[in-house]
Amino acid sequence: MPGPEGLGIAGLDYLRLEGAAPQRLRMGVSRRLGGDRSALLRHDDSERVDRARSLSYLTFVAPLDIITLPDRKLRLVSDPIERIDDDLRRFADQMLETMYDAPGIGLAAIQVGVPRRMIVLDVAQREDEAAERDPMVMINPEILTRSDELAVREEGCLSIPEYYAEVERPATLRVRFLDRAGKPQEIDAGGVLATCIQHEIDHLDGKLFIDYLSKLKRDMVIRKFTKQAKLAPKPASL
Ligand code: NI
Repeated sequence: MPGPEGLGIAGLDYLRLEGAAPQRLRMGVSRRLGGDRSALLRHDDSERVDRARSLSYLTFVAPLDIITLPDRKLRLVSDPIERIDDDLRRFADQMLETMYDAPGIGLAAIQVGVPRRMIVLDVAQREDEAAERDPMVMINPEILTRSDELAVREEGCLSIPEYYAEVERPATLRVRFLDRAGKPQEIDAGGVLATCIQHEIDHLDGKLFIDYLSKLKRDMVIRKFTKQAKLAPKPASL
């Protein structure tokens, strides 16, 4: 039976996914997940938002816009979250919705322009499309231990669309975080989940997966996206 945020399931999932490296991992799967988005919002349906306590970043309409290279905000170090309330939970749900819509398997708050330490993940459907969704929300996540053993996976990033490269990272880790309810959690992760957690926590420190590549490759990617951004049509001026 899944525990809060389905953590019980996640613990098993990574075992099932072991041994598949190197593999394409887009922090995003290459297919539309579809499904019933309203299910993501079920938690708060009966709750009222206290407008007086609303945080400014909650005025967005989901799905949120994902920022991409060369947006400098991607290099910001995100601040810890001090209060977990309905507004924050609603924002977490919007992030999940944005992630599923992309589609992706992980998203950090800074990727929608909010420099706060929160990530959302769901690796459950990556290899088993029939699997139930298993959304996870990690607030102020902190890696406690990393294995000496390394694993190589092909990664991608919703903020660096259509670019993939192999990255070597610790194969397993132990992570501590606050869940959606604000309850402290500690889990061991391996496989795709471990890669995804490390990739997303890097975002909170302004780090991107291309930083693990050679300077030559990294500069090439940055140049390509900078050029694309310059060519992109600008909004009509009034
Ligand atoms: Ni990413």
